[in-house]
Amino acid sequence: MAICGGSVNKVAIEFKAVSKEYPLYSHLAGGLKGFIFNFPRSLKGITRERFTALKDISFSIHQGETVAFMGRNGAGKSTTLGLMAGVLKPSSGQVMISGRVSPLLELGGGFHSDLTGRENIRLNGVLLGLTRKQVEAREAEIIEFSELGEFIDQPIRMYSSGMLSRLGFSVVAHLEPEILLIDEILAVGDIQFQEKCKKKIQEFKKNGVTIILVSHSIGDVRALCDRVIWIENHIVRNDGPTSEVLPQYEQFFS
Ligand SMILES: Nc1ncnc2c1ncn2[C@@H]1O[C@H](COP(=O)(O)OP(=O)(O)O)[C@@H](O)[C@H]1O
Ligand SMILES: [Mg+2]
Repeated sequence: MAICGGSVNKVAIEFKAVSKEYPLYSHLAGGLKGFIFNFPRSLKGITRERFTALKDISFSIHQGETVAFMGRNGAGKSTTLGLMAGVLKPSSGQVMISGRVSPLLELGGGFHSDLTGRENIRLNGVLLGLTRKQVEAREAEIIEFSELGEFIDQPIRMYSSGMLSRLGFSVVAHLEPEILLIDEILAVGDIQFQEKCKKKIQEFKKNGVTIILVSHSIGDVRALCDRVIWIENHIVRNDGPTSEVLPQYEQFFS
């Protein structure tokens, strides 16, 4: 149990010896033709060959903690957040979540490209746990926060990656999350919007929201997170206070 400001906080997220494997498609390296030509063998490959994205990962995160997941591309950070969000299931081990999760995962995830920004707000608001009335009451505020202007009534297939991240963050920012997952979304928006997002994250932090952030930005991690979990080669390489782990991380990559 973590002691925060004198009170004992409950565990919000717990990973117990979690592993995640994906099917490995290396047998496709020879091209589709080769795959079909060697069909029985290829099929065996599909069922047998596995790539381990996370290997025996354990940690617990308490309510109100702000934790950054860091590590190079392909280390397994998004897989970890996908498991927290429940969009992925572990191959072995246990993932336990206590609280309402608001995920901001890959860009535009959960959005429908043929719907407009406004329609996506309505759809996502309801999917992420608000009633229709609550969504209607907050719609104007969400749109204002996004600063998407007249683009809000355009289908989002016309949106740039920055505009998609604006829409995603604006929806989640108005959801009253208990556990907020943010996967590299801050890096996409322009600087002015990034600052606005960070302010909002600080506000959530003050209100005791559990925040999980994937970021490569040393500055953002230092400003927003009290703890860093560093994933390297699909295992936890280091886990501790930001002031301890971040300098080691910086040194490793310099
Ligand atoms: N759906 C998938 N199928 C197969 N392999 C995947 C899938 N998603 C991720 N991987 C692999 O798992 C590893 C970890 O990926 P990911 O969690 O996205 O890393 P990160 O977010 O740290 O960059 C990578 O090697 C990636 O190629
Ligand atoms: Mg990722």
